[in-house]
Amino acid sequence: MAKVLVVGNYAREHALAWKLAQSPRVTKLYIAPGNGGTGNVAQDVPIAPTDIPKLIEFALDEKIDITVVASDDPLAMGIVDAFTARGLKIFGPTKAAAQIEASKGFAKKIMQENRIPTAKFETFDNYEKALEYVKNQSLPIVIKADGLALGKGVTIAATFEEAEATLKKIMVEKVFGESGSRVVIEEFLKGEEFSAHAFTDGKTFVMFPPSQDHKAIYEGDKGPNTGGIGTIAPLTWVGAQNMQIVAERVVAPALEALRKAGTPFQGLLYPGLMMTAEGSNPVKSADADHGIKTIEFNSRFGDPECESYMRLLKTDLLDVIEACIEGTLENVSIAWNSGFACCVILCSGGYPGNYEKGKEITGIEEAEKMSDVVVFHAGTKMENGKLVTSGGRVLGVTAIGATLEDALKKAYEAAAKIHFEGVYYRKDIGVKSLNRV
Ligand code: AMP
Ligand code: GLY
Repeated sequence: MAKVLVVGNYAREHALAWKLAQSPRVTKLYIAPGNGGTGNVAQDVPIAPTDIPKLIEFALDEKIDITVVASDDPLAMGIVDAFTARGLKIFGPTKAAAQIEASKGFAKKIMQENRIPTAKFETFDNYEKALEYVKNQSLPIVIKADGLALGKGVTIAATFEEAEATLKKIMVEKVFGESGSRVVIEEFLKGEEFSAHAFTDGKTFVMFPPSQDHKAIYEGDKGPNTGGIGTIAPLTWVGAQNMQIVAERVVAPALEALRKAGTPFQGLLYPGLMMTAEGSNPVKSADADHGIKTIEFNSRFGDPECESYMRLLKTDLLDVIEACIEGTLENVSIAWNSGFACCVILCSGGYPGNYEKGKEITGIEEAEKMSDVVVFHAGTKMENGKLVTSGGRVLGVTAIGATLEDALKKAYEAAAKIHFEGVYYRKDIGVKSLNRV
């Protein structure tokens, strides 16, 4: 029996709480702070995810048995270290281990030292030297602020002028603050992105089936990147052999490096990967990576990958989370439902640029009456008894089905029942994969 606290306010955390609420061992479930929809599965607690002292006070007062964190900011701030120091059990990596996401330079160093396949790169803390380096590279070139930058720290520069302007913005004008005192400049990888997730207790890890996010705002992967506005899982074209390569060449060496450094990673490791054109080449040597390159490591569940994954996970999530914390993951077998899941994110018009908030949302109940449909909330809140928009990504409409086509059809039918002024969503989530099989 356990009292559980989920920290966060996105659709990802709503999905985690939704899944945890199904555990017969969860006696009381809280979410801090939650959003306009999380109240249907957990009790909302008005504490910000980054207010670590208040969260600790709450966890001690309420005798919380397990806390679950999936947002990068509190992890990078050391929420896990602070909870552990007070004897509180918490799912997620320590501040030191979370550096694998919080510092791109740190992640690249681990990849380089452990021969984890990734784009060629150099790290700079001097603007003139960075500029000099860019002059001799082929275009496009990828420029990344070292630290967390709300998902906006990556620029793919098509011209030298754009690269110069980007470096100036990050390193001289410091638009991302100290996150930009260091930059990683790397080779542009061409191919198709996919996501891997692994539960780990620091020693053992268990891979999820592969999934795919859709980052660009417009159909056909056009327009600026968002935090992610649609996912499908599993991604059949990646295949078991490729996932074995991800496990052996990407996840295992990264976890081993962190363990050897005395900072084992416990929680959820999510490498973002690129299947490059080389991917279709035959294996050249035992060391071949089949053209799979690591774009980055995240130290938490993907959003909206998590929303699709929670619809497919069969095993009690509390059992897995507890095993990760206790170091007993090798004793747990993780099962997935057959079939497919998808998540279509409904956005505020204008996102990822400027958008208006406070628009009334209707139709969720109608959508959820459909079988196999669950709607997770992200940017929503209750205002004067009405549910209104309060963010760029507003809702994650999820569906499951025997086939991917079936899941997508249900999600889009459900999405069409939901209304708010300016609502926007991509109509082609999963279409590329449908066309592939
Ligand atoms: P990151 O924050 O590192 O995940 O980068 C955000 C997005 O930028 C990724 O999801 C990719 O779409 C893109 N990206 C990052 N690095 C590269 C690269 N080396 N080549 C091509 N695209 C990249
Ligand atoms: N799916 C993108 C992210 O969570 O970073």
